Amino acid sequence: MKPYILITGSSKGIGKAMAELLAKQKNNLLLIARSEQILASFSKELADKCGIDVQYLVIDLAKENAAEKVYNWIQHNNYPIQALINNAGYGLSGSFEKYPLMQHEDMMRLNMLAPVQLTYLLLPLLKQQARSYILNVASAAAYQAVPGLTLYAATKSFLLSFSRGLQYELKNTNVTVTVVCPGATDTDFPNRAQVGLKAQKAAARLNMSAKDVATMAIDAMYAGKTEKITGWMNQLGVFFAWLLPKKWIEKAAAGIYKE
Ligand SMILES: NC(=O)c1ccc[n+]([C@@H]2O[C@H](COP(=O)([O-])OP(=O)(O)OC[C@H]3O[C@@H](n4cnc5c(N)ncnc54)[C@H](OP(=O)(O)O)[C@@H]3O)[C@@H](O)[C@H]2O)c1
Repeated sequence: MKPYILITGSSKGIGKAMAELLAKQKNNLLLIARSEQILASFSKELADKCGIDVQYLVIDLAKENAAEKVYNWIQHNNYPIQALINNAGYGLSGSFEKYPLMQHEDMMRLNMLAPVQLTYLLLPLLKQQARSYILNVASAAAYQAVPGLTLYAATKSFLLSFSRGLQYELKNTNVTVTVVCPGATDTDFPNRAQVGLKAQKAAARLNMSAKDVATMAIDAMYAGKTEKITGWMNQLGVFFAWLLPKKWIEKAAAGIYKE
C-alpha cells in the first residue's frame, strides 16, 4: 500500500493548503481536525480530483488520549505513514490574565503536547519507511517573547527547540525533522486568537497566503531542512529579534498587540 501523509489541522488554513499541494503530488492523505462536515467534503473532493486515497479522523487533539486514539486508528487500519505534519494550533491574544487557566491549558495541549505525543507514537511507524518526515508548524513568534501573545509565543518556542533537538537525535536515521516558522498568514488564525484590530492591520501588510506558506513548508520538508522561516520579511524580523536588545523588541511587539 502506498504510504500516507498525516496532517493535523487540515480542514482550513495552512494545513488545508498543504493537503491540496500533497494531493496534487499524488500522496495518500490522513486528515485530522474537529470539523466533520468540512473534513468529509474536503476528503472526497481531493480523492476524486487527484485519484488518491484520503481518510479523515474527527478529533479534538487538545483532549486527553487524543494522540493515542489517532495512533489506534492508524494501527487498526494498517495505514503506512511516510510523514507526520503537526500543524494544528491556535493562539490567544491579549493579556495573560484575560483568559481562564483552562483555556491556556487547552492551547498548550494542542500546540505542544499533541505534537510530542504524536511524534513519540508514530516514530516507530515512520522508521518502517525507506525515507520519512516530520514537519512541525511553529511560528516566527518562536524567536522572541511577544507580550500580548505571551503564552502562544512560548508554545512555539517549545516546538522550535523540540524540533531542532529531535532532528539532531535522528540525524543518522531515515527520518528528518523540519520546523517551519511562518509569520502572519492569511487564515482563520486571528479570529480564533481574538487578535485586535491594530495587530490585524499590521499583519495585513505582511500577510502571506496559506498556499505560499504551505509550498515553502513542504519544499523544506522534502529537502530535509531543519528550520525554515517563511518569507524574507519574516527572516529579517527574526534577524532583528536576535540582533537588538530584547527589551526593544518586546516593546515593539507589545505596541502591536496592545488592546
Ligand atoms: N496564520 C498565521 O498567521 C500563523 C502564523 C504562524 C504560525 N501559524 C501556525 O500555523 C498553524 C496552522 O494555523 P492556521 O493559521 O492555518 O489557522 P487556522 O486557519 O485556524 O487552522 C487551524 C487548523 O487547526 C485545526 N484545529 C484547531 N484546533 C484543533 C483541535 N483542538 N484539534 C484538532 N484540530 C484543531 C482547525 O480545524 P478545526 O477548527 O476543524 O478543528 C484548522 O484545520 C498553527 O499551528 C498556527 O499556530 C499561523
